[in-house]
Amino acid sequence: MYFGVDYYPEQWPKERWEIDAKMMSEADMNVVRLAEFAWSKLEPADGEYDFKWLDEAIEIFAKYNIKVILGTPTATPPKWLMDSNQEIYPIDLYGMKKDFGTRRHYCTVNGAYREFARKITIKMAEHYRNNDNIIAWQIDNEFDANCFCDHCKKGFQEWLKKKYITIQNLNSEWGTVFWSQTYQNFEQVITPRYTSSDGFSQNASSDNPNRSPFNHNPGLLLDYYRFKSDSVVDFQKIQVDEIRKLTNLPITHNLMGHFSELDYFDLGKDLDFISWDCYPNNMWGKSNHLQISMAHDLMRGVKNKNFWMMEQQSGPCGWQVIGDTPEPGQIRLWTYQALAHGAEGMVYFRWRPALFGTEQYWHGILDHDGVGRRRYNEIANLGEELKKLNDLFVDSKNVNEVAIIKSYDNLWSHRIQPHNIKFDYNGLLYDYYVALNNNNIMVDVTSVDTDFTKYKLVLMPAFNLMTDEIKAKCEDYVRGGGKLLITFRSGTRNWNNSMSTITNPGYFKELAGIELEEYDSINFGRQVEVIFNETKFKDQAKKWCDIIKCNSAQPLATYNSHYYKGKPAVTVNSFGKGEVYYVGCDLGETSLSLLIKDIADKSLLDEVLDEVVEGVEIIRKEKGGTTFMVLLNHNSNPVHVKLPGAFDNLLTGTKIKDEVSIEAYGVVVLA
Ligand code: GLA
Ligand code: ZN
Repeated sequence: MYFGVDYYPEQWPKERWEIDAKMMSEADMNVVRLAEFAWSKLEPADGEYDFKWLDEAIEIFAKYNIKVILGTPTATPPKWLMDSNQEIYPIDLYGMKKDFGTRRHYCTVNGAYREFARKITIKMAEHYRNNDNIIAWQIDNEFDANCFCDHCKKGFQEWLKKKYITIQNLNSEWGTVFWSQTYQNFEQVITPRYTSSDGFSQNASSDNPNRSPFNHNPGLLLDYYRFKSDSVVDFQKIQVDEIRKLTNLPITHNLMGHFSELDYFDLGKDLDFISWDCYPNNMWGKSNHLQISMAHDLMRGVKNKNFWMMEQQSGPCGWQVIGDTPEPGQIRLWTYQALAHGAEGMVYFRWRPALFGTEQYWHGILDHDGVGRRRYNEIANLGEELKKLNDLFVDSKNVNEVAIIKSYDNLWSHRIQPHNIKFDYNGLLYDYYVALNNNNIMVDVTSVDTDFTKYKLVLMPAFNLMTDEIKAKCEDYVRGGGKLLITFRSGTRNWNNSMSTITNPGYFKELAGIELEEYDSINFGRQVEVIFNETKFKDQAKKWCDIIKCNSAQPLATYNSHYYKGKPAVTVNSFGKGEVYYVGCDLGETSLSLLIKDIADKSLLDEVLDEVVEGVEIIRKEKGGTTFMVLLNHNSNPVHVKLPGAFDNLLTGTKIKDEVSIEAYGVVVLA
């Protein structure tokens, strides 16, 4: 297994490189990622290249059997380049230029920049194509897309021309007749910048994450999100193509988990493998452990295949202020969490914190003085432990019976108009993820293009933008015996973000066997009681209530207050050999977990273990036909977990029976 760090030789004196390489190899490290921000060192002036320093660093690593992932440096175009090409700077939606001084100061659409990026990529690939110590390439660093410049406008117009062919078609898909926005030709089409109805929140409270002060045509906005995402896919492809012409090495990019500006399913298509950057607890926020697990599952779902960690947190992290220091055991726990969910390469960010620059507070394994202390020891021990596990995680598989479908098109549509001030698409998906996890049911988080037939249950929460093809796919799946769960705000829109004229839930009407009589967006602290028919369990809907009329479906829960008291809130419908669950309102964690339990029991879903312990994750994996289990204790206190029989404890080499105790932040691997 590859195990190593992100390293910046350009930030340290040459004399230190070998000391670092030696310390890395003593920690059983065998890989470093290099060079992804080193453009000004690789090309100090236009057309003048200097690879000597990097060659030397790579050679030192080779001496210690440490392989290299080479990053293309296009996230940080140097000053000489920007000075002679001012138009590369991104422009924000107020028309302001985003200037030099940090990174990512470029527009992905700008043709001149695309050529600069191509050229440095070719030069690097030509220079390193025969270097055996390089094992993979990383394109750029953490792509984002945010620009409203004139190049973007032109690019958007061309993108639209390809998509709609005629301007009449665009006008009718977007409904530009509304507020007299009809375009006469593609050259008139705008990018969604600041307008006279913008600048104040349309969603009341100012701390609402869905607050959107921009009120453009929803069809235009959605297409702009798509265009921006596509432009990054294109930008990445330029580099991918050049590297492929010169080497056969695998190519990756470092993604950012739940980051929502790019369609990661599209971005992943041109890559050989996905890698991602994970900081569970940093200056900007602390993630719940299941948010991290869900991000891992999504990263696995991008290509439905194992991935790498390209930056895994290894110290306290911040820019101006410093986040919490990882407690003893936490780095090991995060590492196994990633491995359990599908990582098979582990690269920590970073070896040693910088002495200067924006990130001098972003700590790594060592401290500023270059000394390895507790964190270094923990990771070195881990290196040894993983070595003993004999590549257990490499080529292992997460074989799951349940999928949650995520759609970036839907995410953007929900962001443009979140229906209710409290609605959050990612949050809704997460609620279902938690409910499954509360039942020890493992899940794939993946795209609607994935083959549904390998799953017993597919969840498509708030899948609102629809096409006839997706409808047919869902119908085939359910007809053949699959179970589908959908929720409120599903099927009501066409793919280009206009409202469907089919009675709600629109495209899902027949599948769900229901019609919506009305819906009620729940505002200003109001709550609506929901009662489950069988268990009599009660909950309160706080965001949204669909008022349902059953055609062929059966009610599972009904509203118990307000003028629609007695009307169905949750239903199930038989369709072909399968079933469709419709959840017409938001539910709290307990009732959602009970509902999932009920569905799981009826669908004979496999729960990894019967016993559920708060804060303990249990992940089952397969390798070469045999299964093993990873138990992760995310609690800061020890726990006991009941087991169905005897197991080999792979980390201790002992046998255990009926019960296992796991220390605070501890990990157990059982076979
Ligand atoms: C990201 C980047 C790194 C570094 C860290 C810390 O993940 O990829 O280069 O900037 O954040 O801020
Ligand atoms: Zn631009």
